Amino acid sequence: MSVPTSRVVFGAAGARPCTLVLCRGCCCGDARKHPGVDHQWQLDRLRAAAAQSGGRLAVRTTDCLGPCDQANVLVVQPSGEGRRRGGRATWIGWSGDDACTDDVLDWVAAGGPGLADPPATLTLQFINPPRPEPRRSRR
Ligand code: FES
Repeated sequence: MSVPTSRVVFGAAGARPCTLVLCRGCCCGDARKHPGVDHQWQLDRLRAAAAQSGGRLAVRTTDCLGPCDQANVLVVQPSGEGRRRGGRATWIGWSGDDACTDDVLDWVAAGGPGLADPPATLTLQFINPPRPEPRRSRR
């Protein structure tokens, strides 16, 4: 029995989990710049969800992603299957409150980008990724 090639996912990419990349740079996660936000609680909630996901969700932190004026910034990267179905990395700004964290966790539990529609309230916090630096031509 043959398998249609369009349904075959090769290597580790097919098993790649949906990944939350949480900025913890110079502004995101900084209690002095964003008081009243429990930054550690947010990270703990996301990590707990990943631990309970059976490998379907991963969480990592990163240094400054660029749009500090929209901190806390969070990027939802699609799973391998989600990317194959057209899902792309989704940038979310002002993500520090519990309601946003709830929406993010609901979305990724449903499959995330490419596999499930995001909660409507979460779409209001979608932001554009920073534009890449223009490349200088060699002269
Ligand atoms: S510190 Fe998060 S975008 Fe700069």
